[in-house]
Amino acid sequence: MQDEIINKGQKYLANTYTRFPMVVTKGEGCWLWDLNGRRYLDFLSGIAVCNLGHAPKAVVAGLTHQAEKLFHISNLFYTEGQIKAAELLVENSFGDKVFFCNSGAEANEAALKLARRYSWKKYGEGRNEIIAMKNSFHGRTMATLSATGQPGFQTGFSPLLQGFSFVPFNDIDALSEAVTDRTCAVILEVVQSEGGVYVADKEYMKRVRELTREKDILLIIDEVQTGMGRTGKLFGYEHFGIGPDIMSLAKALGSGFPVGAIVGTASVMEGFEPGTHASTFGGNPLAAACVVATINAILDEGVVKNCERTGKYLQDGLLALKKKFPFIVDVRGLGLLLGIELSIGADPIVKEFMKEGIIIIASKGIIIRLLPPLIIGRDEADIFLEVATRIFERIAT
Ligand SMILES: Cc1ncc(COP(=O)(O)O)c(C=O)c1O
Repeated sequence: MQDEIINKGQKYLANTYTRFPMVVTKGEGCWLWDLNGRRYLDFLSGIAVCNLGHAPKAVVAGLTHQAEKLFHISNLFYTEGQIKAAELLVENSFGDKVFFCNSGAEANEAALKLARRYSWKKYGEGRNEIIAMKNSFHGRTMATLSATGQPGFQTGFSPLLQGFSFVPFNDIDALSEAVTDRTCAVILEVVQSEGGVYVADKEYMKRVRELTREKDILLIIDEVQTGMGRTGKLFGYEHFGIGPDIMSLAKALGSGFPVGAIVGTASVMEGFEPGTHASTFGGNPLAAACVVATINAILDEGVVKNCERTGKYLQDGLLALKKKFPFIVDVRGLGLLLGIELSIGADPIVKEFMKEGIIIIASKGIIIRLLPPLIIGRDEADIFLEVATRIFERIAT
């Protein structure tokens, strides 16, 4: 039965993903079930989306309550839910205003457009260049692909958008040298997750903020993956004692309901006026209900603290494994965004974990990425560490 569905999927679905050979039927908390009724521990969370686990009760309640009243109305009207969602984001971040959209790529599109528009209004034509990081990932639309510093993703899509340049991550001298009088923004992730889990240095982030302030260059932090508690703070930038001018959010923002947003300071958000940017579905009543319920649940249920605590426990456990197994080259990350770099291929190991009932993902062929729901406790971390030990012992012999 499962094979039949997979064959049908290969016939009818665009070939854009290398999918796990698994038909998922149900998710609850940290667990997933396949069509055969087998249970799996989910250490991927729909790629950093299900931070509250699967089908979190508060979000299900918020969504169903809203669905009975109003699905959609358009941003030509006010709705209380959307305003509440924006208020919660503003009250809990550096920002003053919010624009809602539907995905991470769209959020970064909005951020890039806003940066150019803000600069155009203040300085006129010509100051429109954006510096991005090598090894970054910002999405699959033409602008976000143009801002993504991994040429592999760009192959065959030329011509890309003009006005982007790339510098090595964590290298302040390279960034200073790349700045010109045409630079309007710098965009970066505080943890390059798709790129293989590389964390920004604290001093680097401080210097980036000083440099961008000094030159009135906007700092865009892409928090699509690091946001909503993932790193052990509500937003990743909080680790560095600085704030951006714009941050982009999506993934866990609606616990799996498709929604994205940018949050910006009041002066920067003045770059947008009616007619300059829009989204039909952006922050619609269903999405807004999920955002409100998600943020309230994250704040009320101690999710961020748990992420910090369990993330440290898991990372310590992985560091102990590193001492034991020489093919573990590095263990790194923040909170529950963790990477295990190997000197051997990671893809066969992902398959071994799946056989043992744990879902994980690999990056760049040699890095295992762990993105469990932020509600995991020591029990789930211990299950992972036990299975990892077993698999690594098998490989070592
Ligand atoms: C840092 C970052 N930015 C942007 C995106 C794109 O988000 P989406 O797939 O929702 O367009 C991703 C997706 O993995 C991401 O990790």
